[in-house]
Amino acid sequence: MGLMNYMDLKTIDVDGVRVFLRLDLNVPMKDGKIIDATRIDEALPTIQYLLESGAKVVAASHRGRPRTEEDFQNLSLEPIAEALNERGIEVLLMDKPDSDAPLDLMKKLKPNQIILLENLRFSNGETENSQALAQKWSRYTDIFVNDAFGACHRAHASIHAMAQLKPIRCFGFLVEKEIAALNKIADKPPAPFVFVTGGSKVSDKIAILDSFAEKSDAVLIGGAMAYTFLAAQGFAVGNSKLEKDKISVAKKFLQRMEARGKKVLLPVDHMVVSGIGADDFRVSDGTSVPADSVAVDIGPKTQRAYAELIKSAGSVFWNGPMGMYETPPCDQGSLAVAEAMSQCEGFTVVGGGDSAAVMVQSGWADKISHISTGGGASMEYLQGVALPGLEVLKVRTVV
Ligand code: ADP
Ligand code: 3PG
Ligand code: MG
Repeated sequence: MGLMNYMDLKTIDVDGVRVFLRLDLNVPMKDGKIIDATRIDEALPTIQYLLESGAKVVAASHRGRPRTEEDFQNLSLEPIAEALNERGIEVLLMDKPDSDAPLDLMKKLKPNQIILLENLRFSNGETENSQALAQKWSRYTDIFVNDAFGACHRAHASIHAMAQLKPIRCFGFLVEKEIAALNKIADKPPAPFVFVTGGSKVSDKIAILDSFAEKSDAVLIGGAMAYTFLAAQGFAVGNSKLEKDKISVAKKFLQRMEARGKKVLLPVDHMVVSGIGADDFRVSDGTSVPADSVAVDIGPKTQRAYAELIKSAGSVFWNGPMGMYETPPCDQGSLAVAEAMSQCEGFTVVGGGDSAAVMVQSGWADKISHISTGGGASMEYLQGVALPGLEVLKVRTVV
C-alpha cells in the first residue's frame, strides 16, 4: 500500500482537539490476567504523542466476541484500563459510551487523562457498522485516528462508519509501522517463503489461505486449523476442534497446492488429552487422532519437521499458535516454531494477538524481524485484500 492518499497525523494540529482514537486493545487474557501486553504497549506512542500535543483523547477498543450474558460480565476493558494506568496514562473508563456523559467529561479532562470507552462490542450496532452509533461518538469528538491495525479488516462502526463522519481522519504510528514491515513480504517475499498457520479462528482464516498458496513454497498447518485439514484428507480427528462445513474448502486448497507442486505439512503426531480441561496429556504418534481424545498441540516429530523448513526459509510468516499454548505443556509446539523462527536468517514476521504472546513468552522476540499486532488483519493485508479500515481513511484521490 502506498501512503500518498492518506493524511499524516504529524501534519494535523491536534492542540485542544477532541480525538476519537480507535485502538486494538484485545489482548490475550487468562483467568482475568493479561497474558501479553504487546497490543497495549504498541498503542502507547500514538496515545503519548496526542497527549503531548494537547489533544483530548477518547480511546476505544473491542475485546473478544461477546455473545452471552456471561461474556458481557467477563469482557470489560477494566483490566486494560488498569494496565494503561500502570503505564502512566490516567484512564477514565466510560461504561455508557452512547450516552451524554462523555460530553461533560471531555470538558473536565486533565492533561494526562484519557477517556476509554467500554468494550465497543457491548454497544448495539458496532459490528453492524451502524451510522447511528458512530453519530453518538461523533458528538463529542472532532477528528478520527485509527491505530487499531489488528481490527482494520473489520468494517465495524468504530473503524468504518466513524471514519466516514470525520473529514479529518488518519492512521496512527502503529498502523504506519505495521504497513512498512508487512510491505516487505507482501508482494515478492524472499524465497523460499514459508507460511505457518494455526490458531482457532478456522473459518475466518481458511478462506484467505488460498492466496498464500500462490506465494508460499511451503505451508505448515497446526493449531485447531490442522484438524479440518486432516479430516479433509480422511484421517480420524477424535474430538478435536473441527469445522465440518469447511472441509471442502480445505480439500480444494490441498488439491491446488498439490497441482502447483507446493508443500503442505500437517501434523504427524499430536499432544492429546481426554477432554478440554483434563490434564492427562500424552503424545499420540501417527497422523490420526485417537477416538475420545482431543488434540491440543502438535507433537515432537511434527515440531522437528516444521522447525527444519522454517530455519532454512528466505522469509516466514506465522499466524496462529500450534496448540492451546495458554495451558502448558500445550505451548511446546508454538515454542518450537518460535525458536526455529529465531534461528532463521530470512525476514521473519509473526502476526496475531495470541501468536505475538507466544513469541514474547518464548524469549526470542528480539530475534524476529517484525511482530505484528494483527492476526486476521495481517493475513488479509498480505493477501492483497483492501482492508476496510484503511480504505476508508483515504482522503485524496491520485490523478
Ligand atoms: P492469533 O490471535 O494469533 O491470530 P487465534 O486467535 O486464531 O490466533 O488462535 C489462538 C487460539 O487458538 C488460542 O486461544 C489457542 O488456545 C487456540 N488453539 C490452538 N490450537 C488449538 C487446538 N488444537 N484446539 C483448540 N484451540 C486451539
Ligand atoms: C484479533 O484479535 O485478531 C483482533 O482484535 C480482531 O478480533 P476479531 O477477529 O474478533 O474481530
Ligand atoms: Mg487471537
